[in-house]
Amino acid sequence: MNTLELVADVHSILGEGPAWDADSQTLYWVDIYGQTVHAFDPATGVDRAISVPGRPGTVAPRASGGLIIAIDDGVASLDFATGACEILCQPEPHAPAGRPRNRFNDGKCDPAGRFWIGTMENAEQAPVGALYRVDADLSVHTMLTGITIANGLTWSPDHRSMYYIDSAAKCVWAFDYDIDSGTIANRRTVVEVPPDGGFPDGMTCDAEGMIWVAYWGAWCVKRHDPATGRTLQTIDVPVEQASACCFGGPDLQDLYITTASARQQPDHLAATQPHAGGLYRIHLPTPGCETWKFEG
Ligand code: BGC
Ligand code: CA
Repeated sequence: MNTLELVADVHSILGEGPAWDADSQTLYWVDIYGQTVHAFDPATGVDRAISVPGRPGTVAPRASGGLIIAIDDGVASLDFATGACEILCQPEPHAPAGRPRNRFNDGKCDPAGRFWIGTMENAEQAPVGALYRVDADLSVHTMLTGITIANGLTWSPDHRSMYYIDSAAKCVWAFDYDIDSGTIANRRTVVEVPPDGGFPDGMTCDAEGMIWVAYWGAWCVKRHDPATGRTLQTIDVPVEQASACCFGGPDLQDLYITTASARQQPDHLAATQPHAGGLYRIHLPTPGCETWKFEG
């Protein structure tokens, strides 16, 4: 069994949104409350962070070059080298209770290059968040409403299913997914989280169609079979709040895991998880699905 390594001991507040850029062999990720976007280069072991003008929910590579992020003012392009950031569209100008109550959280691109991004209430209580789809032409489509903690999303290797997590619901949903139209239908629960199992958070999928879920409050990432709901493997993480995971590396066999130190007392962190907020990695036998790029 391979071991989990701490690859960037950078004490992020709310590490999230890992995305592998195959072209540059770089793992991009965000610190939402730290308002930074990070680039980890596995060849040198160096993690670089740049500040962005708002809380970034997630980051994704863009087919035309550069990155796409979702910050307070909307979905934006980002040039990591210069820090130039330009708003492209605002999916949530008229959120149910007024946008200042909400922020962006997890999101990523689908296999056809559309950017899916969720919003949630800052207070993480009311179901006033939504899941949006931003197409290559920058048109915005509201795909789900009534979301409390917008979280992980991923697609099956055959592109026929989309999986989605609202952490507050303590389960993983599957939808039928139509790659041509980008529509979802037929929501059902495929994994139920036991009461003491923490909150399902970020998620990715491997080449065998098994889903990997980071568990917030449960010190782990788990591999589940969405056909049976069974847990196939558990990776212990030495941080209580594992927030998201993504496959990277030359063969997509390195699972990167982001973690968070947010909302924890410094004494508690120092005593129980001194590397909270760090970026972790583990080499696995089954490769993962690729990080899709935004086609817009
Ligand atoms: C959010 C946190 C939230 C957690 C719960 C994360 O993705 O960014 O704010 O508390 O999910 O699972
Ligand atoms: Ca997350």
